Amino acid sequence: MRAPSGYLLAARYRLLEPVGRGGMGTVWRAHDELLDRDVAVKEVRLPSVLDEELRAELCARTEREGRATAMVAHPSVITVFDVVTEDDRPWIVMELLHAKSLEQLIQEQGPLHPRRAAEIGRQILGALRAVHAKGILHRDVKPSNVLVTEDRAVLTDFGLAALEGDVSITQAGIVLGSAGYIAPERVLGSKASPAGDLWSLGATLYTAVEGRGLHGRRTAAAALAALTSGEPIPMSKAGPLAPVLDALLRIDPATRLDSVRASLMLARVAAGGSAEEPLPPRKFVRPGPAITPPSFTRRPAHRGLHRADAVTTAVNVPPPRQERKPGEGVHRKRVEPRPTPSAYARFKATVIKLCLPRRFWPRELRKRG
Ligand SMILES: Nc1ncnc2c1ncn2[C@@H]1O[C@H](COP(=O)(O)OP(=O)(O)OP(=O)(O)O)[C@@H](O)[C@H]1O
Ligand SMILES: [Mg+2]
Repeated sequence: MRAPSGYLLAARYRLLEPVGRGGMGTVWRAHDELLDRDVAVKEVRLPSVLDEELRAELCARTEREGRATAMVAHPSVITVFDVVTEDDRPWIVMELLHAKSLEQLIQEQGPLHPRRAAEIGRQILGALRAVHAKGILHRDVKPSNVLVTEDRAVLTDFGLAALEGDVSITQAGIVLGSAGYIAPERVLGSKASPAGDLWSLGATLYTAVEGRGLHGRRTAAAALAALTSGEPIPMSKAGPLAPVLDALLRIDPATRLDSVRASLMLARVAAGGSAEEPLPPRKFVRPGPAITPPSFTRRPAHRGLHRADAVTTAVNVPPPRQERKPGEGVHRKRVEPRPTPSAYARFKATVIKLCLPRRFWPRELRKRG
């Protein structure tokens, strides 16, 4: 039974109006009367076939997952404020976003441009990396769990993800989650893993750019057979996002694209480049330290300057001269070129040198040798 509008949850959260409905419950806009702010409250409806013990365990598990998610502060991870167990079911209190889910966006606007899808994917991958680093798995990444606001993409529904894949729930024969977004190895019975979340992200982005689910109208078994047949995944609108989707949607989790490379490739596509190639150089390049040409002057260009100034000042240092002027760089008196002596002066000098001992030579002749 859905709670009536105006219901006061935990003597604190007043349910105002439903903002969305999903497979497991209703999301309400509610007012936190203690802190006087609007919040979103997810009212979870548990299947009535569950016995009391299982219901209690699922409530406890949702609380644990809520606590775990609250440990992650990331702009693309929904902020969980509170988890309440009331009326034998869990209620999740979280930040209220003015957003549309990716599923709603695709329904209203058709397939997204690959660059836009890549930017959403980059942010959601950031959220997944942050939660994986804390040992938390999402297990239910799909377009309806990605909320897109004016300026960010946010991954939601962590609390419910805890229910999916629960052994006791599987034993009860209840299928949770959306078949089209569950990694193939999990369909085959393997445990959930970070690689499984990456496959689901690939399937989510595939839907975003192609405008239809990877599995189409096929049953999960038929879809798995198609995936394992080795045939290339049909893509007509993915453009530069195609290599990322191909690598994220690998059947074998061991050869699947890892989150570091996926993040780099998504960033390249989001910036308008190609997933595989390095990005073209940016137009504005921040000036790094200038490379000072080697100086041939004896005094270095930076002498007497503060170190920090040297880099910028070095830009204005004129290039070194390749030639020296006569006498430059020598600590001697400038030597003037001597005038060439006349023929008579040369004759006179020769006679003096021949006839007189050196000490009687005129001073000028002695200097010249
Ligand atoms: N924190 C929130 N702030 C604003 N709107 C939200 C918030 N969380 C969910 N919604 C809205 O509520 C809708 C229903 O969410 P919900 O998680 O119940 O459904 P679902 O993801 O389609 O199904 P499932 O039960 O499998 O999770 C979303 O599509 C979204 O539009
Ligand atoms: Mg949901």
